[in-house]
Amino acid sequence: DQSLRALGNRHDLRIGTAVDMAALASDTTYRERIAKEFSTVTPENVMKWETIEPSPGSFDFSAADQLVNFARQNGQQVRGHTLLWHNQLPTWLTDGVANGSITADRLRTILRDHIFAEAGHFRGKIWQWDVVNEAINDDGTMRDTIWLQKLGPGYIADAFRWAHQADPHALLFYNDYNIEFTGAKHDTAVALVKSLKAQGVPIHGVGLQGHLGLQYGLPDAPTLAANLKHFTDTGLAVAWTEVDVRMPLPNDVYKSQAQAQGYSIVAQACLLNPRCLSLTVWGYTDKYSWIPGWFTDPPQGAANLLDENYQAKPAYQAMRTVL
Ligand code: XIL
Repeated sequence: DQSLRALGNRHDLRIGTAVDMAALASDTTYRERIAKEFSTVTPENVMKWETIEPSPGSFDFSAADQLVNFARQNGQQVRGHTLLWHNQLPTWLTDGVANGSITADRLRTILRDHIFAEAGHFRGKIWQWDVVNEAINDDGTMRDTIWLQKLGPGYIADAFRWAHQADPHALLFYNDYNIEFTGAKHDTAVALVKSLKAQGVPIHGVGLQGHLGLQYGLPDAPTLAANLKHFTDTGLAVAWTEVDVRMPLPNDVYKSQAQAQGYSIVAQACLLNPRCLSLTVWGYTDKYSWIPGWFTDPPQGAANLLDENYQAKPAYQAMRTVL
């Protein structure tokens, strides 16, 4: 068995993908390849607040439950994504904060209730939770969100404590992008998780999203491994949580080779660190990818392991070679 999941299992490393629930329902090939190639899955959108709690206090877990059931049927572990973020919040929440009808005290209760409801609903079924997502700016300051504005910096520790009470067995992660490279954001992330640990906050891991782009250049594997070690030296686990390697379109043979190198260094860095638990790609086929819709100047895409027709690109071969 040369599937990514089988190769990963030899290193006790779970290989995952984000899952688009519409594609899972409509596209048999998409579904079969996920079952075959991956040992962990992450909902691309359906565990986010706007989907889970579309109106105050009323919860819709149906789409997320479908994924959890799919994972159980296929012997896969689930990464929960995400309990607390500044994006994809329901409008009742953002409007309520903006017009003052939701006070700071009320917001704190809303957050607590949301975390207890969601983490409680999936209690025992989630391997790793991205408890807090993207709380740091690229310049290393804390992101100016409604959470920081209304609740103060302690909201992060609170979120972890509540998630742990709601599901004591899940591994709790802080997840962010661009923290795989050294610099101000990396330093703040290391300092943040160190201080959470020092305060006895239940945090178990750091998720490195791994949204890479060829136009920015790629580090080498030892450099990336050293950066991961800054996090595991704090006593935490790490995981690659959202890996893709985008490029200015169109793709060509040189770019697809460079992209293979991108996936290769990510996998190598993980294998070089015994506390790197999983490597999740943010989609595995160019047929369904968030990149073309989000990165348009210049137009980017072709970021995944397989092309639009489920044909393996050099990146897929590179992953197999490394694993
Ligand atoms: C993206 C999804 O892929 C898109 O479908 C959605 O429209 C926006 O969010 N960092 C994250 C993910 O933590 O949740 C984001 O997912 C990509 C960036």
